[in-house]
Amino acid sequence: MPVLDPVLVNEWHPVMFSSRLEDRPLQVELLGERVVVFRTSRGVHALKDLCIHRGVPLSLGKVRGDEIVCAYHGWTYDACGTCTLIPSLPRGTAIPSKAKTSSYRCQEAHGLVWVSLGEPDKDVPAIGTRGLLADYAQVFMGPYEVAAAGPRVVENFLDVSHLMYVHEGMLGDSEFSEINDYRVHETDGALRTDEIEVYQPDPDGRGVGVNTFYTYEIYHPMSVSLTKRIEGSDDVFHLYLFVTPQNEEKSIAFMIMERNYAFDEPDETFVSFQDILLEQDRLIVENQKPELLPLDLQAELHLKCDRLSIAYRKLLSRAGVSFGTA
Ligand code: FES
Ligand SMILES: [Fe+2]
Repeated sequence: MPVLDPVLVNEWHPVMFSSRLEDRPLQVELLGERVVVFRTSRGVHALKDLCIHRGVPLSLGKVRGDEIVCAYHGWTYDACGTCTLIPSLPRGTAIPSKAKTSSYRCQEAHGLVWVSLGEPDKDVPAIGTRGLLADYAQVFMGPYEVAAAGPRVVENFLDVSHLMYVHEGMLGDSEFSEINDYRVHETDGALRTDEIEVYQPDPDGRGVGVNTFYTYEIYHPMSVSLTKRIEGSDDVFHLYLFVTPQNEEKSIAFMIMERNYAFDEPDETFVSFQDILLEQDRLIVENQKPELLPLDLQAELHLKCDRLSIAYRKLLSRAGVSFGTA
């Protein structure tokens, strides 16, 4: 099902890591729409993935110069979606004015390609308030395809009391399940929590148990992060999550981790750890009912430790994100 949500239609969404987009066009699904993304000397571009001639996806074609050429009969479209060449037309014949496909806004930021299907009035969500930090090591994780609605995936990331159960032995220990009280503040347009203490047998895949202090941040309905401070050291770990709804039932999660320690550790240590955590979370989020996150706060039971989930649900309501259900 497409996501008929005017707020999300007018937002920017990441569709792939920039490194994946080379000289071949690629198809992505965004809010139920098939989109072709391609790179030319002028940057990255996104069009509706449909040739107006016979309905073939343009992503089966190729990039030539600054244009994209359909695989079937060679109709060629510029980055605005206007057909500039129909090879079978006799020379001098005008190209029909209806020979167009829709074009979408597209740009690169934070190592990702972003697309908006509508008219965004803001830029792509910031990474924190700082952007990626020059003196930190960054690791790109995912993309992870999850058969769950985007807000369920985001809320799972913001849920601190699942760490001791879903990720027991890694991010938590069920013997230490109590969550200290915390508040959620609004500063610089983002929601932030106080620190939440969590004992972790293995906080990042290197297998060293420590006490950590979590702070969560919500910048945008689909962009959130967590920061872990490691007790007794200056080590800091940030994990950013960007969730793109492919449609009502499926999402893609992009993660960027950055840290100011263990610079010699290979990326693979952290990526394979995150891959395991994601599979643990997948079992939960792909089975939650109802599939769409209930924004009516009476619909489920909440505890004090769920303050952040409540704040997230309120933020979605306030932003008018209906996910097509209103
Ligand atoms: S279907 Fe694309 S050129 Fe004919
Ligand atoms: Fe989790």
